[in-house]
Formats: sequence, structure tokens, C-alpha cells
Amino acid sequence: MPRRTAMTKWRPRALMMLALLAGVLATGSFAGSVSPDDANANDAKAHDANTSDAKKADAQTPDAKRLDAETPDARTLAAPADFASIADPNSRSAAYFTELGKVLTNPRCTNCHPRTDRPRQGDQARLHQPPVFRGADGFGLPAMRCTSCHRDANFDPAGMPGHAEWHLAPPEMAWEGKSVSQICAQIKDPKRNGGRSLHDVIVHIGTDSLVGWAWAPGVGRTPAPGTQKQAGALVEAWAESGAACP
Ligand code: HEC
Ligand code: HEC
Repeated sequence: MPRRTAMTKWRPRALMMLALLAGVLATGSFAGSVSPDDANANDAKAHDANTSDAKKADAQTPDAKRLDAETPDARTLAAPADFASIADPNSRSAAYFTELGKVLTNPRCTNCHPRTDRPRQGDQARLHQPPVFRGADGFGLPAMRCTSCHRDANFDPAGMPGHAEWHLAPPEMAWEGKSVSQICAQIKDPKRNGGRSLHDVIVHIGTDSLVGWAWAPGVGRTPAPGTQKQAGALVEAWAESGAACP
């Protein structure tokens, strides 16, 4: 990993401040007209303050309720062998995918596979602040490139996630708001998965380092359930058993 100089440390922060300012000017939200997005941002601030009041405020949002409802099982992944008792291969295959769905519908993945042109942030999956958009290549509009803030690695002092390839998945790979069975149909459709074979999908989920970021997301973010290796094993078991969808 390249050594960070003082330059690369303060630059993202300075850019962030500029961008925040630009966002405020563009939306005119500073003077008090509270749009739903701003309300989200306020929730986020309350969350960061991490007081019990803030926790109560967060608990009002549907997303927070969903997280609260999570059982310890939601943080782990079952192994393919755990499904051996399902005799019917089709049902077993679909069950592997349902388990994998815990990863695919996790904010660590869906924040980058959004339904709109705008990424989402954090465990509450609030809209990205400042407002940034996909752009032609997924790396943002010319004036607001992802890589001007997101560097080649997480920068924890600023709560800044990072990876050299940080950019948005294309619209046909959107998962946000979709059911696990809809994502299943989509993920095995070469027209909507970047022309990948099932083997490519196994390798991508099991070993790709941008996908892997979801299990080492830096301070303030909950990692995706289980491990990347376990997720890869589930995709493999699913593909080898006929890639049935739940
Ligand atoms: C930083 C943004 C980012 C994050 C985080 C991210 N992805 Fe992606 N994902 C992308 C981009 C960009 C592509 C398109 C890359 C390509 O086609 O080469 C993509 C493509 C994919 C594909 C191939 C297309 C498809 O729909 O089959 C899979 C599978 C995938 N991601 C899985 C995941 C999983 C699983 C997670 C979470 C554990 C995740 N991604 C998190 C950006 C992200
Ligand atoms: C002006 C700076 C800036 C730019 C430009 C920027 N981001 Fe971000 N982004 C941030 C900051 C700061 C965070 C962390 C905020 C937080 O989580 O509270 C963040 C967080 C994220 C997250 C949340 C990850 C997670 O799961 O919590 C995603 C996804 C993301 N950015 C995608 C993008 C994409 C894609 C682009 C380009 C289209 C982009 N960002 C451009 C500043 C920026």
C-alpha cells in the first residue's frame, strides 16, 4: 500500500468541504427548508453523536427498525453443508441463494448498487451527501469524480471508505429495493450482469477486492455478514446445484 503523505491526507477533506458547500448552495437547504434528504442527513448526524437520544431518533426510521430486528444469525452465513438435509436439489439450490441474499441486500452492497444514479451511505442507507451522481462511466460527473474523495484505501480519521476502483455499479446491476428472487434472476442474466458466466459470478463475489471491501468497510460501518470466502462458497454451491432462484 502506498505511503500516505500529508498532501493526500488533507486533500480529500478540503475537497469534501468544497463539495459540501457546493451541495448546500445547489439545494439551498442551508436556510432551513428541510427536504426529505436533509432530514436523512440530520438523522445521520444524530446517529454519529451516538447518544441514547440519537439512537431513539434512528429507531424511528424503517431502516433502523430493520437493523434492530436482526437476530445474531443476520451477521453470519451458513455453510453449504448446512443445507444437506434439503433433499430436493431445486429447493436446496434456492436455499443457498436465499442465504447469499443476506449479503446481496446488505447496505454494504446496495449502497453501490442503487436504484437511482445516486449512491447511498452508511448502515441506514441514506442518500449520499454531498449529492454525487453516477456519470457516464460510474466514476461520477466530470466536476465531482468519486476518486477525488474516495482514495485507494479507507481513511478512517475522516470516516472515508476507499478502494482504487471505487465507483457505482451500472443501472442494469441495481439491487437496491429488489427482492432476493429478483436479484437472483438478474445476477445470472448476462445482459444484466456485465456478460458474466456463472463461473465469473462465483469468482467475482468470492475474490474481487472491491466486493471484498464490504467485509472491511472501515470505522462506523457494519461489515457484510459472514466472510467473502463463505459468500463465494454459497455462490459456488448455488451454481453447481442448478442456480435455482428462490
Ligand atoms: C464501491 C462500490 C461497490 C461496492 C461496495 C460493491 N459493488 Fe458490486 N459492483 C460495483 C461495480 C462498479 C460493478 C460493475 C463492475 C464490472 O462489471 O466490472 C459491480 C458489479 C458487481 C457484480 C457483477 C454484476 C452482477 O450483477 O452480477 C456482482 C456480482 C457484484 N458487484 C457483487 C457485489 C457484492 C456481493 C457486494 C457486497 C458484498 C458489492 N458488489 C459491493 C461496485 C460496487
Ligand atoms: C466530495 C466527496 C465525495 C465524493 C466526490 C464522493 N463521495 Fe462517496 N462518500 C463521501 C464520504 C465523506 C462518505 C462517508 C460518509 C458516511 O458514510 O457518513 C462517502 C460514502 C460513500 C458510500 C457509502 C459506503 C457505505 O456502504 O457506507 C458510497 C457507496 C459512496 N460514497 C459512493 C460514492 C460514489 C460512487 C461516488 C462517485 C459517483 C462518490 N461516492 C463520490 C464523500 C464523497
